[in-house]
Amino acid sequence: MENLMGNNKLDRDLIMRKLKEVQDPELKRSIVDLGMVEDILEQNRSLTIKIKLTVAGCPLKDKISGDIKAALADLTEIDKIKIEFSAMTEEERKKLTRQITGKDPSELFHARGVKNVILVASGKGGVGKSTVTANLAASLALQGHKVGLLDADIYGFSIPRILGLNGRPTVIDNTIIPLEKHGLRVISMGFFIEENEAVIWRGPMVHKAVSQFLSDVFWDNLDFLLIDLPPGTGDVALSLAQTVKGVNAVLVTTPQPGAYMVASRIGKLVSKFNIRMLGIIENMSYFLAPDGSREYIFGSGGGQELSDKMGIPLLGQIPLATEVRSGGDNGIPIVLSENNTPAADMIREIAEKISGILAAGHDK
Ligand SMILES: Nc1ncnc2c1ncn2[C@@H]1O[C@H](COP(=O)(O)OP(=O)(O)O)[C@@H](O)[C@H]1O
Ligand SMILES: [Mg+2]
Repeated sequence: MENLMGNNKLDRDLIMRKLKEVQDPELKRSIVDLGMVEDILEQNRSLTIKIKLTVAGCPLKDKISGDIKAALADLTEIDKIKIEFSAMTEEERKKLTRQITGKDPSELFHARGVKNVILVASGKGGVGKSTVTANLAASLALQGHKVGLLDADIYGFSIPRILGLNGRPTVIDNTIIPLEKHGLRVISMGFFIEENEAVIWRGPMVHKAVSQFLSDVFWDNLDFLLIDLPPGTGDVALSLAQTVKGVNAVLVTTPQPGAYMVASRIGKLVSKFNIRMLGIIENMSYFLAPDGSREYIFGSGGGQELSDKMGIPLLGQIPLATEVRSGGDNGIPIVLSENNTPAADMIREIAEKISGILAAGHDK
């Protein structure tokens, strides 16, 4: 058997060039650059490629195998390709972490690579904050941005259901690789605990969990990181504001007159802490009847009132619509499925406003 790693340089270079195109599905880096190609052996027109996985039993083996075979498909000198997997040693994993983050594993803070952090806050639960956050994130991704979504609602996480996303994130040497769905990188407490498991957290633990989701997750140079905050309290917003510089926020409210009372409390808290308020999003603003008329089921004026009181713009009013609710239940945000509905149009418009405001901010 001939070892192509050492001699027979030409063939090895050609194969390595082709393998360089193959990416680790989670880290989005070439398997060659990541040091995952351990050996290439050739015998009787049959090629054996030894791959070192970042973690043993990596569920993405099949994907990597398939991608390698596809990348080498046009090698006429080869009839058969066999791929053998092993796992990296701890030392090798440390080296890889250093390489992808440019830092020592002990001082990781991946959120630094994030251009814009946007907190999505509300005065109380049930106003559609998580639904709006998921749809805004999906809209920003549709516009071509790299987007992450951090579900910081530790007790009442709902992002996994809204995105139809479940699973255990891979952890490489204390670095958590976010899960991916609909073009978004996502982290939620829901990925780490069993369904129906009761979570009892004291304040400091919540703070720690959320700051870990920022510091230990491999967000990897996002344009936007949206953070779905727990409703009501400002604690998480505040601890985030202290951890990351230049945080932005939007407030989600319903149209009840006087709803601003609840929402403005968190608004005030947030504005004290160097968080830039981008605007208000009014959700469940009206029901669009089949004849085109609007029914103001939850009253009207709340968003505008809050906007006037706080002196920040009303970014938009999202109608109450069956497809918004069913999209959340089916795991597909409506901006991706029912994309020609008034609710989807409005959410996209709000996402464009937000990216516009932030782009302008960066030019200054
Ligand atoms: N614009 C809307 N039209 C119809 N249903 C909505 C709308 N916004 C949210 N919902 C539904 O309201 C419920 C609560 O939404 P959710 O996003 O979980 O609220 P929060 O995160 O504020 O607690 C969900 O069932 C969701 O599908
Ligand atoms: Mg929620």
